Amino acid sequence: MIDTSSITKNFNQIPLQTVKGNFKEIFCFNTEFEEENIDHSVVESFGEEWKKFASFEDKEIDKLGKMYFDIIDENIVNKNTYGIDIGCGTGRWTKYLLDKIGFMEAIDPSEAIYTADKLIAEKENVRFSRASTDNIPFEDETFDFGMSIGVLHHIPDTQKAMTNCVKKIKKGGYFYVYLYYNLEDRSAFFKFILSLVSLIRKVVSSLPSVLKKFVCDLIAIFIYMPVILLGRFSKFLGLKKFALSLPLSFYQNQSFFVVRNDALDRFGTSLEQRFSRSEITEMMQKAGLSEVVISPNEPYYHAVGKKIN
Ligand SMILES: C[S@@+](CC[C@H](N)C(=O)[O-])C[C@H]1O[C@@H](n2cnc3c(N)ncnc32)[C@H](O)[C@@H]1O
Repeated sequence: MIDTSSITKNFNQIPLQTVKGNFKEIFCFNTEFEEENIDHSVVESFGEEWKKFASFEDKEIDKLGKMYFDIIDENIVNKNTYGIDIGCGTGRWTKYLLDKIGFMEAIDPSEAIYTADKLIAEKENVRFSRASTDNIPFEDETFDFGMSIGVLHHIPDTQKAMTNCVKKIKKGGYFYVYLYYNLEDRSAFFKFILSLVSLIRKVVSSLPSVLKKFVCDLIAIFIYMPVILLGRFSKFLGLKKFALSLPLSFYQNQSFFVVRNDALDRFGTSLEQRFSRSEITEMMQKAGLSEVVISPNEPYYHAVGKKIN
């Protein structure tokens, strides 16, 4: 077993507060600045979302994790790697990597950080901090590996946030990101659906919390599920190509729990941005990464790059 104290580094500032979680201490740093790049209403909404969807089963995390991390091999993450999960939410992806990595710092500005402490419970090689991309509480060039999964598209200036993340990676280390894609290779029909969804999202995300969760559950049941079931049935009939051409085909292999969670994620969040492959490559390069690889597989798009000088 690796002695993780030889991997971890001290914070570069004193926490404002240290809160006792269910299992570990949670270090809270300042998330409010004059020139900040954060949407506090989005963060609050995620805090509530992750309280509702806190109990991911290991097999669910494992199944989805294999899809998210198909471009991460042992050269990038191994038992000597010091990593950081920026915007960890419930900590499900931190949890997925904990058996493969040396030590992980998990940070999130929302109350989700307490949920992450519960989900990950007794694991030793992780530390939780309440912090945002505006103030990642470590010196620059600290980490061998950083990741930010489904986070940076919910921040007003995605490029600036990514640059802040990449600053914390050592030269020769890696940064992994998942950002919503802009449906660039999809038909006009898909793009039309997306603009409709964006319109509905504006309304739903402004509802009071309880109503918002209820409406998102209705959307999951009456909009997502019929399309998903049509896809599953088509596959059953052998019409695989047709099934994959349907909207929401990603969910044909996912549980209802994941569908409900993602419906809330998609419709309950007021700020979401979408990017093309070339925009993601350009952003990553601008942030200081090279050798950018964007996975050809779902979920679209997840990418990794190597930090250069
Ligand atoms: C869609 S969730 C993704 C959570 C997790 N990475 C996952 O995939 O399960 C987005 C997360 O980003 C966090 N977030 C929002 N703004 C942020 C910021 N400025 N800095 C860091 N995290 C932020 C939210 O609190 C939320 O937990």
